[in-house]
Amino acid sequence: MCGIIGTIGDRNIVPALIGGLRQLEYRGYDSAGVAAITQAHTLARVRTEGKIASLDEKVTAAKLEAPIGIGHTRWATHGAPVERNAHPHFSPDGRFAVVHNGIIENASEIKSMLLKGGVFASDTDTEVIAHLLQLYYTGDVVQAIRDTCRRLRGAWALAILCLDTPDTLYGAASGSPLLAAKGENGVYLASDAIAIREKAVGCRLHKGEICALDRDALRFFDAEGKPVFKELAPVSANENDTDKGAYAHHMLREIMQQPDAVGRTLSPLIEDGRVVIDDGVLSADFVKNGLREIKIVACGSAYHTGMTGAMLFERLSRVSARAEIASEFRYASPLIDEGTLAIFVSQSGETADTLAALRLAKERGAKILSIVNVPGSAIASESDCVIHTKAGREIAVATTKAYSAQLSVFYALAIRLASLKGEIDEETARRLAHELAALPDRIAETIEVSVAPAKALAEQIYARPDMFFIGRQLDFATATEGSLKMKEISYLNSQAYAAGELKHGTISLVEPGTPVIAVATDPAVAAKTQSNVCEVKARGAKSVAVVTRSLAPAFADADVVFTVPDTSPYFAGSLAVLPLQLLSYYTALKRGCDIDQPKNLAKSVTVE
Ligand code: G6P
Repeated sequence: MCGIIGTIGDRNIVPALIGGLRQLEYRGYDSAGVAAITQAHTLARVRTEGKIASLDEKVTAAKLEAPIGIGHTRWATHGAPVERNAHPHFSPDGRFAVVHNGIIENASEIKSMLLKGGVFASDTDTEVIAHLLQLYYTGDVVQAIRDTCRRLRGAWALAILCLDTPDTLYGAASGSPLLAAKGENGVYLASDAIAIREKAVGCRLHKGEICALDRDALRFFDAEGKPVFKELAPVSANENDTDKGAYAHHMLREIMQQPDAVGRTLSPLIEDGRVVIDDGVLSADFVKNGLREIKIVACGSAYHTGMTGAMLFERLSRVSARAEIASEFRYASPLIDEGTLAIFVSQSGETADTLAALRLAKERGAKILSIVNVPGSAIASESDCVIHTKAGREIAVATTKAYSAQLSVFYALAIRLASLKGEIDEETARRLAHELAALPDRIAETIEVSVAPAKALAEQIYARPDMFFIGRQLDFATATEGSLKMKEISYLNSQAYAAGELKHGTISLVEPGTPVIAVATDPAVAAKTQSNVCEVKARGAKSVAVVTRSLAPAFADADVVFTVPDTSPYFAGSLAVLPLQLLSYYTALKRGCDIDQPKNLAKSVTVE
């Protein structure tokens, strides 16, 4: 994983490196570093454990100034997050400096075979790249990079400095995102356009490509080292909205932005009271004559939206549908053919496992639809068609508004698919579209009424060692997301269970006072979930119910009840998740956790 940047400017580029790295912190933040070729022609380096703020302090104390440099913010894969493992890594002769995003799978093989053990200053996989550059260098840096990359297996985006060519910044990529760009004030290499804080034109490097950038020209080469021409286009940073405003945390601000995020996402999908989905995405012909099954593939919270999506597709349109965890799917020899609609869900559009699963599905002939928040991301650009969630930039690592926006896309897709399949009539389709259009207001109302009870409940549960989330069917998907949110930011041990499954083992873990949070919004299964609440209460659990207004009376015996507005049971997950997000937020706050950047996590996971 990790974020990389490199730049050459007319004056001191260190502030641009640090500013860019701050933007890339969503890709990892356990250690960081910069290297630069100074006016005095030395290769200087500053590295630190921890976040960019500490790097900034160290760089200022070191009075580092230079016209060319590279930087890195790390999410550790090989080697603990300590200073000696922080990038940039140097070649043993001190000629090359390298920053890397990705994983070199054959690093230990290279160490023992090619570098004969060598002397390594770090435990990282990346350092072998610096050693190989030294080994293959005979005066031509592009050739050394080409020969080095030929030996690597895995994924990489690299930014490289060579002391012999102090005016040139080098890059190479295979499987990890890398953008080369040119603006008024400098040229850049970056993992994401967000790190380039001026108007610029540029392009992404494709598999195996290498680049050499100087102040006046961007040169590109294929994996053989032959020059290639690449078109430059304006690079757009998604949305430079990085201000917390009046909120203490990005997460809280993003929770509050959900009515807008869902409203903006749904706006192009509902017209004249009907759900409209482009023919290129779902054509009547494909649905009636080609579509055999749907596979929804994603990771983390995006996978949880897929669980909801799959259940809705089966229920509403009677098409066989399954949600799959991307990291499992790609190794499972999945049954895919031209009759498969494969839907890939991703906020970042860069998640390595999701992207690899997409490529596999494409190879096997599936139709590829992606639901992505970041336009121009790898997943968006490799899909046959894309529906963009319009959540805006999400900064907190724990997703909230992108999750809600993804759910709303599944709702719209499910209605449209059911109509095309003839499983629902026009009137039902319009009624559901009407309910969908009302969601942003209901989300706003739910957030408003949930803040105070969530805060109060957090006060009661924040010191408990563990807790459970339960629900049935769609409510199980919501419970699973609620549980993940709690784990991610409060570090409490929390588990989600299909409510009926708790009694088959896990109920033995319920102690007096253990919080058990039940989600019950679907009248078809609510009575069953209510029985499960009684069962845990009988064993001393602190029972919490998240229910719709009309189901609330049945849950009056629960210790705490969150009530959300009534809506179609198909869409109630969008509302029920909100008190759960707020509960995790206030629990983490009470526990003094780093809410926006929880330990060991990163927003965009670009390694397997
Ligand atoms: C990380 C994030 C999760 C996210 C998952 C998938 O683990 O912390 O919040 O759901 O990646 O990310 P994606 O960008 O593909 O939605």
